[in-house]
Amino acid sequence: MNRVNIDAKNGLYPSLTTIVGADVKGKPNWITIAHVGILNHAHGDVPQYLSIGLHSNHYSNIGINEHKEFSINIPSQKMLVATDYAGLVTGEKVDKSELFEVARGELAHAPMIADCPLSMELRLHDTVVLGPHEIFIGELVNTYIDETCLTGKKPDLKKIDPILFDFMAHEYWSIGERTGKPWRDGKALKK
Ligand SMILES: Cc1cc2nc3c(=O)[nH]c(=O)nc-3n(C[C@H](O)[C@H](O)[C@H](O)COP(=O)(O)O)c2cc1C
Repeated sequence: MNRVNIDAKNGLYPSLTTIVGADVKGKPNWITIAHVGILNHAHGDVPQYLSIGLHSNHYSNIGINEHKEFSINIPSQKMLVATDYAGLVTGEKVDKSELFEVARGELAHAPMIADCPLSMELRLHDTVVLGPHEIFIGELVNTYIDETCLTGKKPDLKKIDPILFDFMAHEYWSIGERTGKPWRDGKALKK
């Protein structure tokens, strides 16, 4: 193998394509966000924290900063065109509130997308400013899933059919086949 240095290019792709929902100026606004982070694993009294990185000039930031609540929705491949659209136009100029049917959960200002296979509502825990970006760290409050996307009691990735995002090639991808089992397959090398 001959590996070459391609400068400090972020190689953490694919990432999940999500749509973040926030109430801005009295209406739901939707923004496509691929820079999402899993910050920990909920444990005991410590909740699950998830991060989203938004450029501070986006319209959505106004609502998240005001209400301190937002949603993260996982669209399926069927929703690719609307998902891309939500990432092409700004709520500052175009009303995106009717792009998706709204579902409300426990939080008053975390509008969710009724047609997404999976949606999460979050309470803002902290904000980290990195240059022009605001990294919103949310505490996960509830997760809603379409029953048909469950196998047994577990969310089934194949049924959710998420949209993967590659920033390096500017492409969307879908998931492939299951190839193994974590914490099991490595046991083959245990002495
Ligand atoms: C696939 C995709 C992923 C995106 N991911 C991000 C992201 O992680 N962070 C960000 O600030 N903007 C991201 N964007 C850009 C915003 O979605 C876009 O600028 C949007 O129009 C802003 O909407 P708003 O001004 O209504 O909030 C992404 C766009 C696309 C198409």
